Amino acid sequence: MTDAPRMLSEPESYALLNDYRIPVPRHAVVHSADVAITAAETVGYPCVAKVLSPSITHKSDAGGVQIGIHNPAELRAAIETIQSTIHERAPDAEITGFVIEEQAPPGLELYIGGKRDPAFGPVITFGTGGTLVELEHDITMRVAPVTPEEATAMVRSIRHYPQIAGYRGTEPLDESALADTIHKISTLFINRPEVAELDINPLILYPDGLCAVDARILIRPYAPAPVTSRPPLPQDLFWVSRIALVGASANPEKIGYIVLRNLLSFTGTVYPVNPKGGEILGKSVYPSLADIPERPDAVIITVPSTIVPQVMRDAGERGIPLAVIITSGFRETGEDGARLEEEIEGIALEYGIRYTGPNCLGMQVPRLSLNATFDPKSPRVGHTAFISQSGAIITTLVDWSLTEGIGFSAVFSVGNQTNIDFVDYIRLAAADDYTRTIVLYIEEIRDGRRFFEEAAKVTPVKPVIAIKAGRSEVGQKAAASHTGSLAGSYEVYEAAFRQAGIINAQNLSDAFSLAMLLGSEGYPKGNRAVVISSAGGFCVLASDYAEQHGIRIAPLSDTLLEEMNAFMPHGWSRQNPIDMVGDAGVHRFALTFDALIRHQDEWDIAFVISVPTATLDPVHLATEMARFSRHTEKMVVGCLLGGESMAAGVRILRDADIPNFAEPEDAFRAAGTAVKREDELEKEKK
Ligand code: COA
Repeated sequence: MTDAPRMLSEPESYALLNDYRIPVPRHAVVHSADVAITAAETVGYPCVAKVLSPSITHKSDAGGVQIGIHNPAELRAAIETIQSTIHERAPDAEITGFVIEEQAPPGLELYIGGKRDPAFGPVITFGTGGTLVELEHDITMRVAPVTPEEATAMVRSIRHYPQIAGYRGTEPLDESALADTIHKISTLFINRPEVAELDINPLILYPDGLCAVDARILIRPYAPAPVTSRPPLPQDLFWVSRIALVGASANPEKIGYIVLRNLLSFTGTVYPVNPKGGEILGKSVYPSLADIPERPDAVIITVPSTIVPQVMRDAGERGIPLAVIITSGFRETGEDGARLEEEIEGIALEYGIRYTGPNCLGMQVPRLSLNATFDPKSPRVGHTAFISQSGAIITTLVDWSLTEGIGFSAVFSVGNQTNIDFVDYIRLAAADDYTRTIVLYIEEIRDGRRFFEEAAKVTPVKPVIAIKAGRSEVGQKAAASHTGSLAGSYEVYEAAFRQAGIINAQNLSDAFSLAMLLGSEGYPKGNRAVVISSAGGFCVLASDYAEQHGIRIAPLSDTLLEEMNAFMPHGWSRQNPIDMVGDAGVHRFALTFDALIRHQDEWDIAFVISVPTATLDPVHLATEMARFSRHTEKMVVGCLLGGESMAAGVRILRDADIPNFAEPEDAFRAAGTAVKREDELEKEKK
C-alpha cells in the first residue's frame, strides 16, 4: 500500500456516505453511451453526466459535467460533448467511465466538511454552501466527536439559519436531518481514521430530507501515534522543599548566578552544584548531585545543552523526580538540537523523571518565595496560575503585575513542552487550592485532543482563560481556494476553546482583567447589575456599557427605593444606576451598600464607580466596599477612577480581593464575558 494521499472517486465517496446513511443521488457507473442510456432508465430524468477520470480533480473546470439531461438523445449528446471537451482541455487524461446520476431538485445549498487537524484531530465544519462558500464565510466549527445536541447548536449558530428555520413565510427546512448528518459526518471521522479531508458542497436541504450532491473525500493511510507512558507529575510540586541548581556560577553575568541569587529567598533549601565546589553567594557548592547529603525534590539546570544529558542521568541516579531545564539549544535550533532533545527525553523516560522545558524561563511559586527563573523580578502572592509558552511575556507581565498589585499562585514557563506540557500544568493548577483562575499564553499545543479533553474537565470548576498567538493565520487560510482549508488553525483553536469552556481572551490585559474578576468571586450568578456612583456622567456611560456587554441594569424594588429615600438627598433619581449625587460622602455609599446587602436577591453584580472629589475619601470608601463585599455572596466590582489620589484605595481593594478597573468599560466587558461563560455552563448542566 502506498503512503500517498488519494482522492476517492465520486462513486467511492457516495458509497462511503451511504455506509453512514447519508442520502446521495441515485447514480450508476457506466462505460459507454449505450449503457448510460439503459442506466438512466433506473436513475431517472432529468439526470447529470459526470466524467470519471483519476487525473481530473476539478471535473466542471475540465468540461467533465453536463447537467439538465432530459432524454436518451440528450444523454448521448452530453457524453459526446464531455469526451470531446476533455480531449481538447486535458488530452492526457484517461477517461475510465461516466457517472450518471439523478439531478437533485433545487433546495438550500449548504456545506459540511471536515479535516484532521494536526493538533486537535478531526474537526467538523458546517455552513452555507454552493459557489459562494468562501465569500460568505458563514461557517461554524467543532472538534469531533460532535454530539447530536452540539450538531443542532451548530445548525442554529450560522447567520443564514433563518433560511433553515423558515424565513418570511417560506417553508421550514429539515433541520433535524441536517443536524443528524453533521453528527454522522463526525462519527465517520472518528470511525475512519484514514479519512483526512471531506467536503460535501453542496448538501441540498429540503423541507423533508436532504441530499449530498457533490462529495470530495481525501484518504491518507493512517499510522497511530506511539503512546508514551510517563510517570505522573509529583502532586506536591507546589511544595518542593529541596532544590538543586546544576550550573550555579559565581559569575554575576551568567544565568547560573542570576537563578541562584533568585533562589536565595526560597523558603526551602537550595543546593548549588558546580564541579569547582567552593562557595557562591554565601552558599556551599556541591561538586555533583551525588555529593548532596539529601535527595533534592527538583533540579534546575543551567549548563550548556551538550552537558544536559549527563546532568539528567545524574539526576536519575540520584532519584530526583523533577527537573527544570532552562537551557536552550534543542528542537528550536534544528536537527542536532532535536536529536539532543530526544536523548534527554529518553533518559527521562528511563529514570522516570518529569521535566519542564527545555528552553524555558523556569518556574515561580510566590507563596514559597520560589523564583527558579532568571527573571530579576519575583511576583506577588495571588490566586492566578499563569502558564506561558513565552519567557519574555512572563518577565513583562510579572513586571507589570507588580505595579498593578496583581499576584500569582504560580508562574510556569513551558518551553518546548517536551515532557511536561500545558495539560500537566492545567491539571496541577486545577488541583491547587490557592489557584482560583488559570491563564494560558499559547503559541502551539502539541497534543490538542488531550488538552481539549482535560481542559473541559477543569473549566466548570475553575475558569481557564487563554490568549492564543497566531491569529493572522486565519487570513491566509481563508484565502485558500478549496473549502477544506476553511478550518484554519486559529479557528480550530477558537472552536476547541469554546467547546472546552476556555475563555478566549483577545489580549493580555483582557485576560488578566478577567482573571482578576473571576478570581474574586468565581463566575457571577447572573447578569443583573446595580451601579452605584456619585458621578452622573459615569451612570449614563455605565448604562451604555452594560447594554453593549450583555449586562442587565436591574430594576430596583419599591421597598429598596423606600429604604434609600431615608438617606438619599431630596429629589434623587430613584433608579438604577444609583446616582449618589456629586456631594456624596462615604457615609451615603455605606448606607446604600447596607440596603443592597439586605436586598441582595435583586442583583448579581455591583459596580461601584467613584471619581476624586473633595467629599470622598478613597481609603474610607474602599474599606466600606470591602465590608460590602464580605457581607454579600455577590460580585462587587470597583472602578476607582483617577490617578495618584485613588492609589491607596485601590490597594485596599486588591488586598480584599475586589477587582478594580481604571476604565469602566473594561469592567463591564470583563463582567459580560464572565456572565456569558456562566450561561454556557448552566446550559451544559441541563
Ligand atoms: N555540573 C555543574 N556545573 C557545570 C557542569 C556540570 N556538569 N559543567 C559545567 N558547569 C558549570 C560551568 O563551569 C559554569 O560555571 P562557571 O561560571 O563557574 O564556570 C556553569 O555551569 C554554566 O556553564 P557555562 O558553560 O558557563 O554556560 P553559560 O552560563 O554560558 O550558558 C546556559 C549556559 C544554560 C545559560 C546557556 O546554554 C543557555 O541555554 N542560554 C539560554 C537560556 C534561555 O534563553 N532559555 C530560554 C528562556 S525563555
